[in-house]
Amino acid sequence: MKSDERRTRIREVRRRLAQEGPPWTRDRKADFETVTVPERDCDQLRDLLISEGVQTVVEVGLAYASSALAIGEALVTVQRPSPRHIIIDPFQERDWSNAGWDLLRSAGLDSIASLIPAPSSIALPQLLTEGLVADAAFVDGSHRFHEVFVDLYFLRKIIRPGGLIVMDDAGAPSVLTAVRYYEQNLGWTVIPGAFPGSTPTTVAANVQAESATRCKAMRLPDPPFEPPFEEFHAF
Ligand SMILES: C[S@@+](CC[C@H](N)C(=O)[O-])C[C@H]1O[C@@H](n2cnc3c(N)ncnc32)[C@H](O)[C@@H]1O
Repeated sequence: MKSDERRTRIREVRRRLAQEGPPWTRDRKADFETVTVPERDCDQLRDLLISEGVQTVVEVGLAYASSALAIGEALVTVQRPSPRHIIIDPFQERDWSNAGWDLLRSAGLDSIASLIPAPSSIALPQLLTEGLVADAAFVDGSHRFHEVFVDLYFLRKIIRPGGLIVMDDAGAPSVLTAVRYYEQNLGWTVIPGAFPGSTPTTVAANVQAESATRCKAMRLPDPPFEPPFEEFHAF
């Protein structure tokens, strides 16, 4: 299938998902709307990844695959020789009845995507040990402070120097606090304007408005560095 045909197929699956929701959801009120990344943020994530020319992307948290489909669209659009989308989610089958993976398959993206059914704190060090180097990551997993912190610890070693890490729910106190360590101590810089008018996160209603945008993109330093422990900045 040609690249523009593949893109058309992905866009059709994305459009139907955004308009009609997934074929299956958990039995909770407005579950899809509450859980999934909104279409506009997904479009902005896709455009950012296209502008970076990504070949390998790591994603934490699949659920209903709105963000995964957008990442897949970016990888197909960029047309690098060996696109790879590595998705980590221990609960896709148990909690989500494979809804997200089935959507990726219906979009034809299972040819470039792989799903690791393990917690990110286990999968990421394994990927690092295998020598994975990725251009970007999208993190929308457990949202617990300690798990986000550990995800970022390993992603920092997996993402190439100058690569991107994009957070969902960046205004949630647990996520905000974990990210702040890396910004204040390890030279990560926010990419301004990557998510203009980003939808306020649903899990940060108690956070100040200016920090409550949903998605946040950060660039890793190039060259990378390890600061001396004496230069620790409380975060
Ligand atoms: C908010 S949802 C992701 C939504 C998804 N980005 C979308 O657009 O539909 C969070 C996901 O993280 C997964 N998750 C929870 N704990 C995790 C962990 N320790 N490692 C990886 N994924 C985890 C959940 O199973 C769930 O699928």
